[in-house]
Amino acid sequence: MAQLMKSVKNMNPRDHKSTVAAGYDEIGEIYGNQATRSRTAQRTKYESVLLDSLDERARALDLGCGSGIPTTRRLARKLQVIGVDISEMQVKRARANVPDAEFICSDMATLDFPSATFDGISAFYSIIHLPRDEQAALINAIAKWLRPGGTFVGCLGVRDIEADCDETWMGTPMFWSTFDADTNRRIVNESGLVTISALEETTYLRGEEASLHGESETFLWIVAKKLDQL
Ligand SMILES: C[S@@+](CC[C@H](N)C(=O)[O-])C[C@H]1O[C@@H](n2cnc3c(N)ncnc32)[C@H](O)[C@@H]1O
Repeated sequence: MAQLMKSVKNMNPRDHKSTVAAGYDEIGEIYGNQATRSRTAQRTKYESVLLDSLDERARALDLGCGSGIPTTRRLARKLQVIGVDISEMQVKRARANVPDAEFICSDMATLDFPSATFDGISAFYSIIHLPRDEQAALINAIAKWLRPGGTFVGCLGVRDIEADCDETWMGTPMFWSTFDADTNRRIVNESGLVTISALEETTYLRGEEASLHGESETFLWIVAKKLDQL
């Protein structure tokens, strides 16, 4: 195990991304169906925070949108959504599941949009798959892509783990990378976004979900705003 962790840690970030993309190509449909059946309270709550902060047909970006269910689909009922995912199969599924939204297959870390393109940006359970050395740059980009007054909602990690790898997560190799909660709070503050809330929230899982992901999971849930221009 120590040997495996060492080799994973020393891998090129591109290899981590290939692992993540291939993993979700394989298990993304099961993940999305399960996430839809057993919606976490945090998912529902933070989707609502974003939806309530935005006007009808406002422009939104969903980073790491997965198969589009359940979150992108709910957002797209009110907003004009662009979903982005690194997995080609996830994008294919999302296009079928959410015909009203637009989807791009891309690494979120290499995206670029003009400043002030979006009224809202979401990233549910996705930034944790990005090598953590790239996470601050992404949060800075989110701050740039938001319009003044716009809202970012998403979850980040709570533990200081540079390379967390499971060879058999849901039956496929998977990679995560996270900072502790205080480092993540600092990264958001340094991006220029104004933090509205940054709470560590634990979800207790049951049944099928608990057998796949363990009995509980904790994330740092961020709600942050770009200041209105003065
Ligand atoms: C745990 S799933 C979450 C999906 C969806 N946001 C949800 O809440 O159900 C993580 C998703 O992020 C995508 N992802 C991971 N790393 C990514 C990256 N660097 N760029 C874009 N998407 C990525 C994965 O392919 C996967 O579909």
